[in-house]
Amino acid sequence: MIDRFKQIQLKFKYLVGSLFYLSYAPKAFLYTRKRDIIERQFTLAPTEEGFEKPGKLLRAEPKSTGANFYFELAELEVSFLAEDLVRIDWKPGIPPIPYGIVRHEWQEVETQLAQTGSNYSVSSRELKVIIEVDGSLKFLDNSGQILREELPPQSKGEGWIHQAQLRPEEHIYGLGERASSLNLRAAKDEQQQSKIYRMWNYDAAGKYTPGADPMYLCIPVYLGFHSSGSYLIFYENSFDANFTFAETATANFTGGALRYYFITGSPAQLLERYTELTGRAPLPPRWALGYHQSKWGYRTEQAVREEAKAFQFHNIPLSAIHLDIDCQVGNRAFTIDPERFPQLASFTQELAELGVQFIAILNPGIKYSRDSNLFLEGQILDGFCKLPNGELVVAPVWPGWCVFPDFTNPKVRRWWSRQYAYLLDVGVAGFWHDMNEPAAFIISGDRSLPKVTQHFMEGRGGDHREAHNVYGLLQAEAGYESLRQYRSEQRPFIVSRAGWAGLQRYAWTWTGDVECSWRALRQTISTIVGLGLSGIPYSGPDIGGFQGNPGGELYLRWFQMSTFLTFCRTHSSNNVEHRTPWTYGEPYLSIIRSFLQLRYRLLPYFYTLSWEATQKGYPPVRPVFWSASDNAALWDVEDAFLLGDALLVCPIVEAGADSRSVILPPGCWYNFWDDTVIENQQQVHLQAPLDRIPLLVKAGSILPMAEGKQLTLHIYPPVQDTSVSQLYSDAGDGYGASRLDQFQITQSANGLEITWQEQGDYPFPYTSVQLHLHGMKLQQAWVDDAEVSFEGQKLQCDRFGKVRLEALSVTV
Ligand code: NOJ
Repeated sequence: MIDRFKQIQLKFKYLVGSLFYLSYAPKAFLYTRKRDIIERQFTLAPTEEGFEKPGKLLRAEPKSTGANFYFELAELEVSFLAEDLVRIDWKPGIPPIPYGIVRHEWQEVETQLAQTGSNYSVSSRELKVIIEVDGSLKFLDNSGQILREELPPQSKGEGWIHQAQLRPEEHIYGLGERASSLNLRAAKDEQQQSKIYRMWNYDAAGKYTPGADPMYLCIPVYLGFHSSGSYLIFYENSFDANFTFAETATANFTGGALRYYFITGSPAQLLERYTELTGRAPLPPRWALGYHQSKWGYRTEQAVREEAKAFQFHNIPLSAIHLDIDCQVGNRAFTIDPERFPQLASFTQELAELGVQFIAILNPGIKYSRDSNLFLEGQILDGFCKLPNGELVVAPVWPGWCVFPDFTNPKVRRWWSRQYAYLLDVGVAGFWHDMNEPAAFIISGDRSLPKVTQHFMEGRGGDHREAHNVYGLLQAEAGYESLRQYRSEQRPFIVSRAGWAGLQRYAWTWTGDVECSWRALRQTISTIVGLGLSGIPYSGPDIGGFQGNPGGELYLRWFQMSTFLTFCRTHSSNNVEHRTPWTYGEPYLSIIRSFLQLRYRLLPYFYTLSWEATQKGYPPVRPVFWSASDNAALWDVEDAFLLGDALLVCPIVEAGADSRSVILPPGCWYNFWDDTVIENQQQVHLQAPLDRIPLLVKAGSILPMAEGKQLTLHIYPPVQDTSVSQLYSDAGDGYGASRLDQFQITQSANGLEITWQEQGDYPFPYTSVQLHLHGMKLQQAWVDDAEVSFEGQKLQCDRFGKVRLEALSVTV
């Protein structure tokens, strides 16, 4: 009876939600027609100019950090920015506005220009570029191994076709957010042809199924791995483009300049350099690494209060609640309905006292109405996107007919920045930028603004073909600057659906309206790892999927995986069952609780990885081949991921599965749950009853975990040599003092020695320290040379300089 009632309720909800969507159909229909007319009216005939090949190389000229090459029909500039990073500019072309680039000044690199027959080469100590007489390029590492062979570029009207030969075994990763295989080259379309990846930020609502393309956040960056090495290519070109990876890697850009960067090195080196170029993610507030609850459906203060209290009641940790458009007035940006949230300032305070932050959604489309202050202000600034004839671009989004701020205008970014101030003043802790591809409702074609839409482009002028992909990035920049300025004591927290190269400097992202299915759960792993390899370290899915009702098992398995992702948030649509960790009752609730408790205990580890991302640009969530990228057997592993170097996470992605096989990186691993040691095995099969997923710890790691004010260092002895683990701490927010604790383990014949080095001026935040030794039987222990007692495998101590543990190896 209850089930029947629930089903009717769900059907009713679905119906109401669907009617809500349908209510936009007439506007979407009108806009689609209008957009098509506009595109026809204003699109200029494509120019036929261009060349099949740049012609013959005529001469070369050295310059301080590289060389210029003059071909019959084109020029090529090769500039070394670092020993392992070279920028290639094929000209002619209008140089890009460097929205993606953060570092402009580089130390001079010594380079050599040499001629061999009719070919030339330019080299640094790490990298050599060979320029052949027809415009083919080869990139070689310092041992002479060829990393990449490029064909002469083809200039096609306003665009470019750029191709490189791929080796048979070569694997390709990246391109921002993709609903594809992790190795992008492996994916095929329905005709079994190599999949086409489009560079065009796209509202994938209703279409987010594995294989869909394009997605919300594209970045023209990819990494290639083959038997001679690995490299990264970043095209600094924001125009619409298609990429394919068959026998050749082909990048087909519809416009812009052919400027790209080539980096060589291991995955860690590639990410370090790439993020030096495009920027690193700042340290988030520590609470952001906790659990976030979201729902398109928290309409009132009371509903949010009850939700926060229910978390307390169920004893489930919660760090933030996200409010969707239904908390707004008419779905309008920067509003929160004062009738439904009458005491916002005291309410956000009340939540903060429960340890819960209030996050508000924000869409860029501004209601096209004289009743909208934002519309009037933006009009005074002349800050909205227009058509070539000066008319405003008006398209339907959630508030109805909308106009769109032109974020390529710094004046508009400053104006937008000011809007956050009053929500910050009443305690809104962070912002969720949605629909910022920018998305518009349509019946057919691109879900965005007309391509002929004009943009300021920092004063140089341009149109939507160039501005579209950087739109979300620039909105995020405006938001970030605002939070820095108006709440300078706290670190910004912004989640952005769209973005481009460099988004990591300002915002996190989530993977949008992913379908609610097992295959989508599996897909999420590749998508998140691919984002990380594209420089975006913070991302996560709507746990359970956006559209649809996952049921207990799928929700739980999705949750278990997300426990180990940087952004851990449940979110769901307005027409589905209200979804929380307790929705499916027991045993799911208790298991979710224990996973979340584990996540919170692991926060010192997560936080240290965040700090590492600020220093090195490494994504906390990494492909399994991260530290063993010459091991081709790992290149296709897309059902598991590393969290930092210490944890290998193997989610369950199939209904009913209670075990799975795991392909392992080389070395020795511990089963986190029972300390079983797995040594030098390529593949193992592990149990995964409902209450666990295979989780392995790398030998040699120290896993820092917090239990209240106690820090427990879980020590997984190294098989050989020494290893160092770091622990970063600070106040958790703001820009004050910090500290870095480094623990070095050295293994000897009869035990271990652990030394502790402290740096920084933030006081040690724990009142006690416990050492928990795994995989060895503790016999005797000394803290700073004084013998101490212990209990089983655990040793309670204070701070120390050196601990010596006499222990015997055990096979558990
Ligand atoms: C689309 C977003 O992807 C989704 O997360 C959100 O709930 C809806 N817009 C409504 O704001």
